[in-house]
Amino acid sequence: MKKRLFLIAVIGFWATFSSTQNPIPVPPAIEGTNFDLVLQHGFSEIFAGIQTSTIGYNGSQLGPTLIFQKGSAVSLNVHNQLGDTTTTHWHGLHVAARNDGSPHNMIMPGETWSPGFEVMDNAATFWYHPHPHGKTLNQVVKGAAGFIIVRDNEEALLNLPRTYGVDDVPLVFQWKTFDSARQIVELDEQDNEVLVNGVLRGGTLNLPAQVVRLRLLNGSAHRFFDFGFVNALGFKQIAGDAGLLDAPVAMSKLILAPGERAEILVDLTGKEGQLLTLRQFGTLLPQGYPGGTMMNMGGGNNMMGPLDNTDFNLMNINVSAPTTNAVMSIPGHLTTNVPFSSAGATARSFGFSAQPMMSMTNFFINGLKYNMETMNFSTQQGKTEVWTLTNQTMMAHPFHVHGNSFYILSINGAMPTANLRGKKDVVTVPPMGGTVKIVTRFDDFGDPDMPYMYHCHILSHEDTGMMGQFVVNPASSATEDLPLDESVRVFPNPITIDNTLVIESDYDVQELDIFDSKGSRVRNYAFSVRKRQTLSLDLANGVYFFQIKTAKGFALEQVVFQ
Ligand code: C2O
Ligand code: CU
Ligand code: CU
Repeated sequence: MKKRLFLIAVIGFWATFSSTQNPIPVPPAIEGTNFDLVLQHGFSEIFAGIQTSTIGYNGSQLGPTLIFQKGSAVSLNVHNQLGDTTTTHWHGLHVAARNDGSPHNMIMPGETWSPGFEVMDNAATFWYHPHPHGKTLNQVVKGAAGFIIVRDNEEALLNLPRTYGVDDVPLVFQWKTFDSARQIVELDEQDNEVLVNGVLRGGTLNLPAQVVRLRLLNGSAHRFFDFGFVNALGFKQIAGDAGLLDAPVAMSKLILAPGERAEILVDLTGKEGQLLTLRQFGTLLPQGYPGGTMMNMGGGNNMMGPLDNTDFNLMNINVSAPTTNAVMSIPGHLTTNVPFSSAGATARSFGFSAQPMMSMTNFFINGLKYNMETMNFSTQQGKTEVWTLTNQTMMAHPFHVHGNSFYILSINGAMPTANLRGKKDVVTVPPMGGTVKIVTRFDDFGDPDMPYMYHCHILSHEDTGMMGQFVVNPASSATEDLPLDESVRVFPNPITIDNTLVIESDYDVQELDIFDSKGSRVRNYAFSVRKRQTLSLDLANGVYFFQIKTAKGFALEQVVFQ
């Protein structure tokens, strides 16, 4: 009897203790080649005892982490149960424009979008989020966003932490605006709270006393973070948006713009039992960076939110016992980035302006607002381009390009800091005459019809038209119809569901479109060019037509799933 009472007391104490500690959840991970996502409404208890209306993938908020292996062909099904139009964009992934989830890849209410593609990116941290034009802010601030982790063989050889949720943890930081009823307001100018993996700032994460890897994402609509640990605990950045850095970069502060990612290593060796704190240093953000000090335009046009230009704690790390096989040291070398050569590159300029000039809300790229029907420019597969981004406005804009990552050549005329020298897909263009030069190359995915987006990743700016689009024209058009039996082989045929399908050709296989017996396209794969491609497919039994594009032309094959 006595024993039982004691036990109840302990449980009671633990419950109080853990609720004041507010544990930070780690999103569940899905691995493999077939992924199902359901975009749905729900409620989240962000504030104790209050139900906040949110949206999420496969749950009420955020979404599962998708773990991709470079070189594998993945199939995704995105079911739209929002009762509204949407899209889902694979932010940062190098995919064909039709697979990218831009505003053009609309998913109607109740419908399913099923893109498929080969994972061509190097190991890095990407993310996915809705992207319907004019409604991106609405759907992202309500909670729809998830991580994508790409792994590859090169990264696998490095002695880095990679046990998901144990010593390798994704953390999404999001500024939000809550009203007095604690509901999310679909505005981003006066953000008054910050969530970490969907829970209120100040939560606690348990991490072992060893080298740990944190994958940081600024998933906010509008504001920047300037991260740092209290007590001058340093860390090392190992990856930027789309890939590893050459070597770990020792840092004490890290600025992340909306949409931007960084992987950092923190050495917790010998710190068992300690409580460490990660903090926002808003007072250190440069002038004009949202979250820091903004221009006060007077007349009620004050762009400052209640937490802007302040420092506050984001989360705690409770250091627990080390795991077996703990990583105890940090490698000296990671990879070798070879930025594209600018020799012979096409030059292009993008100017950011505001109207009227001092406006903090009405922005243009090259004097234009986004129009879904207007192609802002076209380029050609195989081309290298150097883009000069100039910001004539009073605030910083994080510039993002879809489908093709880039390297930063310079920021305000100077070489980027070491942590910005890897592959990137977001770059902050500083305010008041700031200039950034980037170099990019369009190696593949020529498609004269389906565009890629470029835009400011401040979601209200993007939604109100600070965005443009371009097409990558094919290098040459292969239109010949091939005698299939001679040039392309598809096997096994018939195929059963758990078999791997092989496509082989005498020429490089570039793309595959799969049509069902009614003639609707059910899958589209764009491959990195190789003569042999392998796929695992989750198609229902039936007869399908495979249209295969090789370097020589198109071939059609009937394939039976049984
Ligand atoms: Cu993160 Cu166009 O998007
Ligand atoms: Cu993107
Ligand atoms: Cu902007």
